[in-house]
Amino acid sequence: MSEKRSNFSSKIGFVLATAGSAVGLGNIWRFPYLAAKHGGGMFLLVYLILVLTFGFALAAAEILIGRKTGQSAINAFGALSKKWSFIGWLAALVPVIILPYYSVIGGWIFKYLVAFIGGQANAAAGDDYFTGFIGKVGEPIGWFMLFIGITALIVLFGVEKGVEKASKIMMPILVVITIFIAIYSACMPGAFEGVLYYITPNFEHFSVTTVLAALGQLFYSMSLAMGIMITYGSYMKKDVNVSSSIHQVEIFDTGIAFLAGLMIVPAVFSFSGGSEEALGKGPSLMFITLPKVFQSMPGGTVIGIIFFLMVLFAALTSSISLMETVVSVIQDKFKLNRKITCLIVFIGCVALGLPSSLGNGAWAGVKILGFAFLDFFDFISNSVLMPIVALLTCIFVGYVIKPKSLIEEAELSAQFKAKTLFSVIIRYVAPVLIVLILGFSVLEAFGIVKV
Ligand code: PFF
Repeated sequence: MSEKRSNFSSKIGFVLATAGSAVGLGNIWRFPYLAAKHGGGMFLLVYLILVLTFGFALAAAEILIGRKTGQSAINAFGALSKKWSFIGWLAALVPVIILPYYSVIGGWIFKYLVAFIGGQANAAAGDDYFTGFIGKVGEPIGWFMLFIGITALIVLFGVEKGVEKASKIMMPILVVITIFIAIYSACMPGAFEGVLYYITPNFEHFSVTTVLAALGQLFYSMSLAMGIMITYGSYMKKDVNVSSSIHQVEIFDTGIAFLAGLMIVPAVFSFSGGSEEALGKGPSLMFITLPKVFQSMPGGTVIGIIFFLMVLFAALTSSISLMETVVSVIQDKFKLNRKITCLIVFIGCVALGLPSSLGNGAWAGVKILGFAFLDFFDFISNSVLMPIVALLTCIFVGYVIKPKSLIEEAELSAQFKAKTLFSVIIRYVAPVLIVLILGFSVLEAFGIVKV
């Protein structure tokens, strides 16, 4: 980026902006279905351990690389060592894969918001409503294009600031309403068993897949291993305390994900007795479960409208930051103007998102490595590409520029207490863990081992 870099004026500015990118569909849509599928409390425990150790170390590494170089991901690695600039390119590929299917889900949220406003809350709670909707061809594509179109317009006119301002009001409302729905859900008949499933780790549920799913979710949720944190770090002033900023973002991000799970997982037990089939629904879980919760709740239609509206905002702030990254990379690389770039990215996203949208209906029979399109893109980005970027980042920091250089950067503002933890994780624990997990998941995807 050649223009003068603006700075976050304060720590709170940094934390809010980072949390705005971090909190999105990953927390509300993705976390609950993974927790439901991968053993409830066991998934939660693995996730928490990873957030506090690995998540902290990787977030610190990325933010500090950004702050030290003052560059976004594409240039930051190269600025520190020419040979390693390819990591930045690899990282920049992640948003390209995520944005299209993220927007497909964003479209589903739009559809539900409008359905609730149009008084169809009862219909939406019906068993076949969701499958009926995503099985169609034109309608989900229409909502998807509306979502990506709005995102593109916001990025084109550079009015992100307005959306960020609005989301500062929306986020607290989202938190309050999620707490309210979570308490209601947990108190429904039969839901308590679900609360226990969600918070008690059962070691029989532990498997390599659980760790891989939790690791992928950690990257996704905290917007790690895709260059985003490097860019945010490049805007951070030198006197802002890095560790405590990261802790605040982690608490916010994980807190919302936890509440979203509490809102959805116990409800699955209440409505379908927590069968393995109901828990393993995957991407559709929230859309099937929540309307039933709203239907059973007094004033559920209004609560539903407010809820879907807030989620739509959280999704938009995330899709905007994803698209902004893609646009700025293309603009810088090919020296194109912003209008053309936004148009190219819009068209590219529509083209890449179409299979994800159709994969639930007309193209449901087409599978890649056994995945439907949307799940395939999700798998490639979260379980393959992001772990690879994270691994390379750890090797780069651990052995090329050395953890000490980033610790010195951190200590320009305040003492960096987690020095040893940071170095050990970056140099040893994370690389070994990632290689093991990646190895197993590839073997599993090809059916060579069952883990
Ligand atoms: N962290 C976002 C979420 O959990 O929904 C997803 C995301 C948003 C990833 C923005 C990357 C990004 F730039």
